[in-house]
Amino acid sequence: MRPHAGSIEDAFLIDFRSTHRPRPGRSAMISRRLLMTFSLLVVLSASSLALADTCVECHQDPKLKVQNPKLFYYYEDFQNSVHGVAELDCVDCHGGDPKSTDMKVAHNGVLDPVAYDKVPATCGQCHGQQHDTFVTSEHYQILEDDGLAPNCVTCHGAMEMDFIFVTRVKNTCSFCHNLETGTLPGVPDQADYVLNKINIMKGYRSFVNTHAADRDQVNSLDASYQDLIARWHRFELDAVEADTKVLLGDYRKAKAQAMKDRRVR
Ligand code: HEC
Ligand code: HEC
Ligand code: HEC
Ligand code: HEC
Ligand code: HEC
Repeated sequence: MRPHAGSIEDAFLIDFRSTHRPRPGRSAMISRRLLMTFSLLVVLSASSLALADTCVECHQDPKLKVQNPKLFYYYEDFQNSVHGVAELDCVDCHGGDPKSTDMKVAHNGVLDPVAYDKVPATCGQCHGQQHDTFVTSEHYQILEDDGLAPNCVTCHGAMEMDFIFVTRVKNTCSFCHNLETGTLPGVPDQADYVLNKINIMKGYRSFVNTHAADRDQVNSLDASYQDLIARWHRFELDAVEADTKVLLGDYRKAKAQAMKDRRVR
């Protein structure tokens, strides 16, 4: 159920007045609690308003499941992705006109920002640091001109973005790094090995970040992790491999400690 706009405005007025009237003790508690409830309502209604863009209205239509399944699953994948969970809007990456119900008008230019060569800039609007380490890497610079350089979506996926797609990444690397070309043919297996380790590490990391009692240690591990990922985005593969082994060991120990702490508490 969505509260109608009037009730939210009224709620704000009431809160505004109540926070400016000195009231001691219990009633102040109650009015704080009311304020929290009303703020929650405002947030909820704001997010349902944000969802009411025409892109979503058309693309979520269950009829598409039969009429255009590929299109439907694009949407469903997106909803489950990190970006869907973070409530990004389609226009954040695609542009277009999310107010128009006319498909042609709405679709004006929606494929431009996600064209392969535009992807790094589009993602870079929000992930500046990863963008900068990646596009200034020598590897990217060398390959940029022929449009073959692996880019953000090669490794992260696009609409369905979630974990790193190790096999897909490996295949992309083998396109150039193979015995025939002779260009560092060990790279695909090395990337495969490192990425699997990083995926395992992410599991430990998320446990440690939530449960470890020693927050200084969490911060220091986190700094090492960020550093490792920056070096990955610069394609310093040998260094990343060595450091991944060390950091994985550190996270493993920290997880064991965090589990002990939990049992003691
Ligand atoms: C009136 C319904 C409708 C609206 C509004 C709409 N879409 Fe679509 N969209 C579709 C359909 C249907 C397709 C499949 C088109 C086809 O098969 O020709 C599609 C296809 C697409 C594609 C694939 C590329 C293409 O041109 O076929 C993208 C990307 C896309 N939409 C994004 C968006 C975004 C972003 C918005 C909002 C700014 C939006 N759409 C608004 C119905 C809509
Ligand atoms: C985080 C950025 C991002 C957001 C947000 C996003 N997309 Fe996409 N989308 C992409 C990228 C990148 C591609 C290109 C896929 C590729 O290269 O494989 C794409 C591809 C698509 C396609 C397939 C286009 C084709 O090539 O036929 C459709 C359809 C689409 N998006 C619809 C949407 C809709 C609808 C929304 C909102 C619900 C949305 N996208 C939100 C990044 C995004
Ligand atoms: C409009 C801003 C925006 C754009 C554009 C955008 N993202 Fe994101 N991205 C976010 C937000 C918000 C999150 C979730 C919060 C977070 O973890 O930082 C996120 C999360 C991620 C994550 C997971 C981060 C983690 O901590 O695990 C990856 C990977 C990612 N984005 C890559 C991309 C790629 C690749 C593109 C381009 C196709 C892109 N993003 C476009 C805002 C954006
Ligand atoms: C060759 C593969 C590869 C490419 C290309 C790539 N990444 Fe990543 N990226 C990774 C790996 C591996 C990680 C660490 C594991 C993870 O977060 O899932 C990562 C992590 C991230 C994160 C999360 C950082 C964090 O602190 O957790 C973001 C955001 C991100 N990448 C964005 C981008 C963007 C934007 C681009 C393009 C400009 C890009 N990546 C290109 C492999 C890649
Ligand atoms: C389009 C071809 C191409 C693709 C795809 C490609 N590479 Fe490369 N890579 C090269 C070339 C060319 C060199 C330079 C080789 C040299 O200096 O002898 C290189 C060099 C490297 C190096 C050596 C360090 C450096 O920065 O020069 C690493 C590591 C590397 N690539 C990793 C990867 C990984 C990981 C992938 C997959 C995500 C990948 N490459 C995909 C062509 C490619």
